[in-house]
Amino acid sequence: MKGILLAGGSGSRLYPVTRCTSKQMLPVYDKPLIYYPLSVLMLAGVRDILVICAPDSLVPAQRLLEDGAHLGLNISYAEQPEPRGIADAYLIGADHVEDEDSALILGDNIFHGSGFQELLRSAAERQPGCTLFGYPVSDPERFAIGETDDRGNLVSIEEKPLGPRSNNAVTGLYLYDRDVVEIARQTRPSARGELEITDVNRAYLAQGQARIEHLGRGYMWIDAGTPSSLLQAGQYVEFLASLQGVRVACVEEVAARMGLISAQDCWELGARMTNSDYGAYVMSIADDLAEAGRT
Ligand code: G1P
Repeated sequence: MKGILLAGGSGSRLYPVTRCTSKQMLPVYDKPLIYYPLSVLMLAGVRDILVICAPDSLVPAQRLLEDGAHLGLNISYAEQPEPRGIADAYLIGADHVEDEDSALILGDNIFHGSGFQELLRSAAERQPGCTLFGYPVSDPERFAIGETDDRGNLVSIEEKPLGPRSNNAVTGLYLYDRDVVEIARQTRPSARGELEITDVNRAYLAQGQARIEHLGRGYMWIDAGTPSSLLQAGQYVEFLASLQGVRVACVEEVAARMGLISAQDCWELGARMTNSDYGAYVMSIADDLAEAGRT
């Protein structure tokens, strides 16, 4: 399965902060925002990832993530010259996806919860069609909203509805079969001038090929694209770090625990950041893995 991480857009909901820096590089407590969606793709079993950036964000993203080899990944980059919508990711990423299934994640989406890896892995195996992930929210007008029938089957999806039929937001993580590129090509710009991912998902729904997995109360999902949600996300991550010593979306830890890199490689990544608590944490994870017999 191929991966696309869409880190485009102007970040205008965060102006003036994002006038001079890219949204995905902003800190969510102890690490850049982009680590969170990246870790989700890793947990889903994706190794080959295209990061799509706004022109100004390309160089910082490349400096941060390089070619991904240090995390056992293959990361490549493409530019989205203008924010033309989420479905545009599949026009830009057509050659990357080729004829494979793919996972698309938005660069400001943060997911966390126990059992998430298993949920992702089993959803990734459930092709053809598309799998969406729903999460209950208190402000449904801000998102795509999925309506389901009594048996949990998806019956409608509406982008930012004025009169929402449910409070079940369609989050920014999408799993697709190989038809997605063709479907995205047939999509036409919406009233706001964007190629809407909701139109792609509706095309799957019309074919009876769209599913939704409900992320229940045990999960946290946040679209960290506004000042408040970015702060809330940071507070959540800080809370878990100080209460439990757990660091959400530590990509070095994910890579080492998944066996993409050795415990020694992990230790060395931490040692490059030895002055920060984050670096010390990465080294401590490597030590734990080595003690448990991992090389
Ligand atoms: C986008 C999508 C929307 C989705 C949301 C999730 O909204 O258009 O369907 O529910 O991401 O984060 P936007 O961030 O463009 O407002």
